[in-house]
Amino acid sequence: MKNTLKLRTFDINDDIADIEIAAEILRNGGIVAIPTETVYGLAADAFSGEAVKKIFEAKGRPQDNPLIVHISDFSQIYSIAREVPESAKKLAEEFWPGPLTIILPKRQEVPDETSGGLDTVAVRMPSHRIANKIIELSCPLAAPSANISGFPSPTSFEHVEADMMGRADAVCDGGDCDVGVESTVITLATEIPMLLRPGGVTLEQLRSVLGEVDVAQAVLNPMGKDEKAESPGMKYKHYSPDAQIQIVRGNLGEFREYVNNSDCDGVLCFEGEEEFFPDKIIVTFGRETDSLSQAQRLFDALRELDEKGAKNVLARSPSTDGVGLAVCNRLYRAAAFRFIDGVKRPVVGLTGPTGAGKGYVSQYLESLGCYVCDTDKIARELTAENSPFLSVLAKHFGEDIVSGGVLDRKLLASRAFATKEKQELLNSLMHPEIIAVATERCREALYKGAVASVIDAPLLFEAKGEEHCDTVISVIAPKEMRLERIMARDGITKEQALSRMSVQHEDSFYTEKSEFTVVNDGKTDVREALSGFVAKYLR
Ligand code: TXA
Ligand code: MG
Repeated sequence: MKNTLKLRTFDINDDIADIEIAAEILRNGGIVAIPTETVYGLAADAFSGEAVKKIFEAKGRPQDNPLIVHISDFSQIYSIAREVPESAKKLAEEFWPGPLTIILPKRQEVPDETSGGLDTVAVRMPSHRIANKIIELSCPLAAPSANISGFPSPTSFEHVEADMMGRADAVCDGGDCDVGVESTVITLATEIPMLLRPGGVTLEQLRSVLGEVDVAQAVLNPMGKDEKAESPGMKYKHYSPDAQIQIVRGNLGEFREYVNNSDCDGVLCFEGEEEFFPDKIIVTFGRETDSLSQAQRLFDALRELDEKGAKNVLARSPSTDGVGLAVCNRLYRAAAFRFIDGVKRPVVGLTGPTGAGKGYVSQYLESLGCYVCDTDKIARELTAENSPFLSVLAKHFGEDIVSGGVLDRKLLASRAFATKEKQELLNSLMHPEIIAVATERCREALYKGAVASVIDAPLLFEAKGEEHCDTVISVIAPKEMRLERIMARDGITKEQALSRMSVQHEDSFYTEKSEFTVVNDGKTDVREALSGFVAKYLR
């Protein structure tokens, strides 16, 4: 056990004495945990094989896993890399100082201990002022993340203290790290640049500078036993807390259902979702729509799970966009690539000719916990007073159909039903809008926990709404029954009802395009008619 010195390194001026002590220890071949903008690093003189060896011992790190050399001035790169291609200069120009590590051919002065025996070397210029000052006062520093090998990287002084007291010569307190996950690693030693580890600099940003950039298979996938790792670090167990984590794919509604039917004791979810899991140990990692906040919180959250004693944890699945790729890369490894598919909750189309009794079926579906979205209601909303959609209609059917924000429905009808073309025009304006609103409402309802969302739409097929549905239920009924229902419902004569029915499709129009059909003839039991649907879609 080493007698580890605690240093205070928050401010370049106030804390310069401690910063100088850190630099001196490093110049003399010692190892010091230092803050960077990504995670804390455990640093040693990159050019001293003897000093670097101590890092591996302190971390329990496999010898063949190379380290990143940290510099504070671009010119130092020439003492480390044998060649510095244009592409490296461009990347440095754009992203240094910052969370990007570039792999280049190595100069022989860099010892094998630092490069893990490879012919290439990883270089990065951190943007953390204290890290830079320490480098400036000492030398280029080899520094892996300052965690015990295999465990989550430290993003706060408490983490570093927990991991490195007794192991390092000194630990520097520089507060919390901004980015929260380690730097992006890209190699320029391949024909096409390849992203080896995602981080704070995103794939999209790299491509905007370099054009084509490949992504190493191991970024989101486990390494096969005999596969050659592009980056040695990918082979090893990583970022793992003691708790066993499984990632549930799907949305919040699906996650809730899965969690509440499982015997897990811990939940790793996004902020604002805590209330849904009253009996579990809950740890959050950022907001669902904010990858940066997830990156910042993830390692801390993994440690927190262990502190709170969670053993069996179900985790939400983050997006892979932008910095989300870095979040997923760490979380997937922390979970040892254990995934569960959440229950898929369907969007269901419900259609049929007028008078067939769709309303009856939709009430039954509602009683089962389905959300039913009434598209007639959406059509009324779109044409209601002051609806922004009125201006679209006015543009096509004449400005005079709207006055004082109110639609003259009769005038619109007289114009829209004048010719077949005009009628089709009205449909082509209304239908996509209605379906867009409906699918959005359905999505939201599933998110909040509905067992299924139903788009109730007489013109489902005409509006191509079925393309947004996982399945379709049609409701049909014998003609005489429909006739009676329409007359009673709308208070119209037999002739009027017949004329309405005459423009409608035959039953086969509906049944041929539907997975399920309910014949609503007064004899059929809806429960029975939809038992197949319930078994398949509403488990
Ligand atoms: O943000 C960071 O990069 C932090 C802070 C301290 O700077 N450092 C860090 O280092 O994460 P470390 O050692 O935990 O991760 C370095 C990764 C490893 O996966 C290693 O295999 C890879 O970079 N690497 C280093 N040199 C390489 C090389 N020559 N070729 C391929 N991969 C290399
Ligand atoms: Mg590491």
